[in-house]
Amino acid sequence: MSPLRTLALLALIGVGGSAPTSGCSYVGLLTHLNLTTANSLLTAMRPVRDWTKATLVQMDMLLYGILQVDEKFQTVTTHTWIQMRWKNEFLSWNPSDFCGIDSVCIPRTSVWIPDVSIREDASDSGAVHHSPVLSLSPGGWLQGRTRQRLTSTCLLNLQLFPFDTQRCNITFSSMASNGKTITLGSFLNENLLTNISEKYMVTQGEWELEKLEITHYEGTNIEPAILVFTITMCRKPLLYVVIFIVPLLYFVLLDVASFFINEARGEKLSFKVTVLLSISVLLLILKDMLPSTEKDLPMIAKYCVGVFAVVGLSVLEAMLVSFLIDLDGYCSYAKANAAAAPEDVQLEVDAHSEPDGAEGKSSPPPSRPDDLLTLILEEVKTARQEVRRRDQEEHRPRRFRRLAEAIDTVFFVLYFLCTGAFLTYLVIMWV
Ligand SMILES: *[C@@H]1O[C@H](CO)[C@@H](O)[C@H](O)[C@H]1NC(C)=O
Ligand SMILES: *[C@@H]1O[C@H](CO)[C@@H](O)[C@H](O)[C@H]1NC(C)=O
Repeated sequence: MSPLRTLALLALIGVGGSAPTSGCSYVGLLTHLNLTTANSLLTAMRPVRDWTKATLVQMDMLLYGILQVDEKFQTVTTHTWIQMRWKNEFLSWNPSDFCGIDSVCIPRTSVWIPDVSIREDASDSGAVHHSPVLSLSPGGWLQGRTRQRLTSTCLLNLQLFPFDTQRCNITFSSMASNGKTITLGSFLNENLLTNISEKYMVTQGEWELEKLEITHYEGTNIEPAILVFTITMCRKPLLYVVIFIVPLLYFVLLDVASFFINEARGEKLSFKVTVLLSISVLLLILKDMLPSTEKDLPMIAKYCVGVFAVVGLSVLEAMLVSFLIDLDGYCSYAKANAAAAPEDVQLEVDAHSEPDGAEGKSSPPPSRPDDLLTLILEEVKTARQEVRRRDQEEHRPRRFRRLAEAIDTVFFVLYFLCTGAFLTYLVIMWV
């Protein structure tokens, strides 16, 4: 009985022991790799047989989308896909021993994982999605993938906004290890990464990916190794041109054209003030778009402020001209008043004196109709002369009006030249 039982037991053990190695299941492989039970040695230590040998970690990064570029907070939000590859020297097998198994997925928690992270990362932890498994190949190479909604800080240079091109660094480095224990490299080359990214890019908003560049820095005993992915992207400026630059230009043109409006009692002035107000609305919009970088004003802000100043000056000039013309009107009115008052008095005096004269002997009342007609003729003649004299006075350009017209002409020429020069300068600097 007992030898039989022993035999059966041995057979069972034999079957149990030989089945995984000879069968085509993963169990045998995992048993061979000592991964069936929690193995703290595998998770705790860097998997090298000789500690002086550094572990090479290969990183690849693809961009699936440029979601948002925040000029105010100087951050760039991208949808990235990151692949990390490294070698575990304790996890290797010969595929022919295991029915040709050439890849196996193991839980992420069961092995050591390099602590490589992104320095510019400013996203919250919920934005990272690690794949729960790592794929393992016979040579011991482990491969882990991560999808991330990466918000990275990036120093945006808005000098040429909206015709700007931004370069943002995404720096991978180990937080705890130095350059002697972990070295960084990349698996795919930069052209391939750029091409794949461009192919799979779902959304890039107002941006266009130009290229991805990779730079390596060897670490030292103290400094960790660094791998820098530089994303170069340029803005699609059309919307800003349509909603901002063209309207401003149009306002300047309107303001130039308003010099040809007749000086008809403030109509010109109110038109110019309306243009100025419209520009200030655009300035408010600009404030929402750009951060306040006090050091150097972006070109678009210079453009805006320049246009505002130019139109503001022309409003002041219109005020001055209208004031001078009003002053002229006032002066001639006062003169007319001053001239008219004695005349009226004179007339009154005449009117008063005439009856006296009529009573007296100086001019005897005309007795015949002929005399009366000549008298009326004389009166009409003097009245006509008077009217002609006043007309001439009216048509003669007055002093202040002449001054106003001169100022207007000179200012218009200067304004035209300055605006032209300013716009030319901007175009040269900008594009
Ligand atoms: C698994 O563990 C045993 C003992 O703990 C050890 O002898 C063996 O070499 C290990 N296998 C591998 C592949 O490391
Ligand atoms: C980005 O990385 C490149 C290459 O390493 C470096 O020359 C450049 O100074 C970095 N830019 C910033 C803003 O850190």
